[in-house]
Amino acid sequence: MKLLVKGGRVIDPASGMDQLADVLIQDGKVMGIDRNISIDEGEMLDASGKLVCPGFIDIHVHLREPGFEYKEDIATGTRAAAAGGFATICCMPNTDPVIDNAAVTSFVRERSRKAGVVNVLPIGAVTRRQEGNELAEIAEMVAAGCVAISDDGRPVMRADIMRYALEYSKMFQIPVMSHCEDLHLSKGGQMHEGFFSTIYGLKGIPAEAEEVMVARDLLLAKLTGAHLHLCHVSTAGSIQMIKRAKSEGVHVTCEVTPHHLTLTDEIVGSYDTDTKVNPPLRSQEHLETLWKALKDGTIDCIATDHAPHHFESKDCEYELAASGISGLETAVPVVMSLVHKGILDLKTMVEKMSLGPARVLGLDRGRLEVGAIADLTIIDPEAVRTVDPAKFYSQGKNTPFKGLEYKGWPYATIVAGKIVARDGIIA
Ligand code: DOR
Ligand code: ZN
Repeated sequence: MKLLVKGGRVIDPASGMDQLADVLIQDGKVMGIDRNISIDEGEMLDASGKLVCPGFIDIHVHLREPGFEYKEDIATGTRAAAAGGFATICCMPNTDPVIDNAAVTSFVRERSRKAGVVNVLPIGAVTRRQEGNELAEIAEMVAAGCVAISDDGRPVMRADIMRYALEYSKMFQIPVMSHCEDLHLSKGGQMHEGFFSTIYGLKGIPAEAEEVMVARDLLLAKLTGAHLHLCHVSTAGSIQMIKRAKSEGVHVTCEVTPHHLTLTDEIVGSYDTDTKVNPPLRSQEHLETLWKALKDGTIDCIATDHAPHHFESKDCEYELAASGISGLETAVPVVMSLVHKGILDLKTMVEKMSLGPARVLGLDRGRLEVGAIADLTIIDPEAVRTVDPAKFYSQGKNTPFKGLEYKGWPYATIVAGKIVARDGIIA
């Protein structure tokens, strides 16, 4: 079975390619990238005016299955991913039961094969039931297919446990993905602590709640020589410390979300609970530091932290609302808005959503070259659409981007040579 992606602007950050070319796909692999390829049988996808990129990878997704299928499940979450332009996603273990052993890991992989439409790579828990007290069955989970460990949603509060987790993960060459939050500092907080929290009368979460844990984890990464990956970094102080640690040779990588790159704490004044997220939306100064850090390489990748919630857990007072943003179906247009504003260049954007995340996890993906698995993300940079959560494939309609108009949307998502989504519609 042949598929020819015709006439698009091929962008491959790994090789530096950025030119008009056709991409020939056969039996799930890229067979040729060249000008004027023609085929006499098979399918053709007209990509003129479109950006043809390596398949996007999101290393931070909450799929909610098993246990919270009323928020999201593998079928709806992977469809949201495909519609949003992602060929591969990694799912977090804060499910019920928690992904803290081989059996639950195998369940997620099996369900993904049957019900999923994109590649799903599970992330195992750091500690049993994510309770923070004893390590999960890391060796078994890695053998069953986990690509990293994380207690995301909750921090690992005990420094000794974090140290052991890093030492263990090093043996398996996987990163510990750390959700940095000192719960004693963030307790009761609803939004970023600063000017607007005072004005709005909501209890704040200081930047330091994240930063003290970033500092601790960097010290432990240095001590153990293990790979530390910092989830959803959101403050200038975190960036400063990560930058320094990298220059000292500490094995640290980090991610940033589309919402932390584009929204400030000011919008919490709407009291719209869809703006409530953890870590919270920060102030403009923090945002500007994140932009710089993306460009200078301090930030390795963009990840959505897709956190779908049920309508009822957002339809309440701000203080009672669940934290999280349903992010898979808005990531590309939201990040493209930074490109259109000249804050981010196209090559960096593509890199931070494909090669960057692949490198963080050591995945053999994220490149658009002959011989590679044919995972492709095709973007229409001129398409203009308004975010309408009612049209989401995700069950989570919780997005602060609703009603906003964006230019630059996914046009097609190809997984192993198969078109799984086209113009936002699942094939
Ligand atoms: O806002 C968030 N929601 N932050 C997290 O760390 C977890 C996530 C969730 O699972 O809902
Ligand atoms: Zn988190």
